[in-house]
Amino acid sequence: MFKNDFKEKKRLLLRKLGSIEHEHYVNFILPKKPENFTFDETVAQLTDIFALKMNAVYFMRLLVFTTSVIASKIMISKHPSLPLVINTWPFVEATEKAWSVIYHDGGSNLDAVEKGCSVCEIQRLCGDSVGYGGHPDETGKTTLDAMIMDGATHQVGSVGNLKRVKNAISVARAVMDYTEHTLLVGNDATMFAIEMGFPIYNLETNKTIQEFKNWLHNKCQPNYRKNVVPDHTKSCGSYKPILQQKFGLPSFSHQTISKDNHDTIGMLVIDKNGNIAGGTTTNGMDHKVPGRVGDSPIIGSGAYVDNDIGGAVGTGDGDIMMRFVPSFHAVHLMQNGLSPEEAASGALKPIIKKYPHFSGAIVAASISGEYGAACHNFGGAAQYTVRTSSMQNATVFSIKCSMNNK
Ligand code: GLY
Repeated sequence: MFKNDFKEKKRLLLRKLGSIEHEHYVNFILPKKPENFTFDETVAQLTDIFALKMNAVYFMRLLVFTTSVIASKIMISKHPSLPLVINTWPFVEATEKAWSVIYHDGGSNLDAVEKGCSVCEIQRLCGDSVGYGGHPDETGKTTLDAMIMDGATHQVGSVGNLKRVKNAISVARAVMDYTEHTLLVGNDATMFAIEMGFPIYNLETNKTIQEFKNWLHNKCQPNYRKNVVPDHTKSCGSYKPILQQKFGLPSFSHQTISKDNHDTIGMLVIDKNGNIAGGTTTNGMDHKVPGRVGDSPIIGSGAYVDNDIGGAVGTGDGDIMMRFVPSFHAVHLMQNGLSPEEAASGALKPIIKKYPHFSGAIVAASISGEYGAACHNFGGAAQYTVRTSSMQNATVFSIKCSMNNK
């Protein structure tokens, strides 16, 4: 029979069980043991309890581990910021369309950029600077520039000075999908579009025609000529270069540029797996010299994306901005550890230094879904629009711009 002395029972049990860890259980079970239980029976029962306890501990540890693994998977697949759609200006219909493609329709990030920007081109919901019926060139024609870029593969499709086709970003996508080239321009880009099945339209509306007539009536003011005769500030062309002229330092006289003159849409879309795509589309500048191609279809200027870092898009005076490849610069700055806002601001700095009167903005996003923007001039403020999985609707953010050379 098991001895009745509590201390002795405890000592024997602990010696038998070999661990003072179990003291709590021994204390718990001993007083409840009926007198006629043998020592071995008590040990057996305690051993069962310890085994149960160890199994329970193991089970709890396993549960905590499994739960944390599942939770971390949920955190990855439902990152609070991804998917992300972000674009220049308060073009919320474009943002919502891109969101719907990536979030509801199961489309890719490239599909989202293409369809989102197409809203501006086809439905004319993004002002006169995007799509048909917008700014005429010096001959009264509207022409389009667009680009699309894939951050996973670095594939790019671009069109410049595209005529008579409304859906420029889809033609850019076709350049990427159906050729080995990167950029097609002018009438040949139109011929390519026709070959790919795009319909042909007249891109000028009554509004475009009236705007062109007003401009002619106003002696072709403003325009983008310089160092020509007759004096471009007073007369229409045709123009001839001023010969024997010592031009000196480059001047900048784009006084007429404002957000209404070149509010290009540039869009970035990051899917929930961290794949980024970017795109732009615009009709460029009002009364541009025929043949002019702006920054929007130029890789690294209008847009740049890289799955390892993030992306950036630009809007503003493309003739100036493209000289500094600011979208590439912003992405490079993010790679060096700057936040998207700091990177956007940093990419504008060298432009401001040389051209303090230019107007422009850069919108940037890191591959993890952080975003930010910076602008210069534009009357002191610019906007950009964002939709993420933590937003109920597309949200417009307003940012204060630096002004002139301050
Ligand atoms: N950023 C548009 C353009 O200059 O054409």
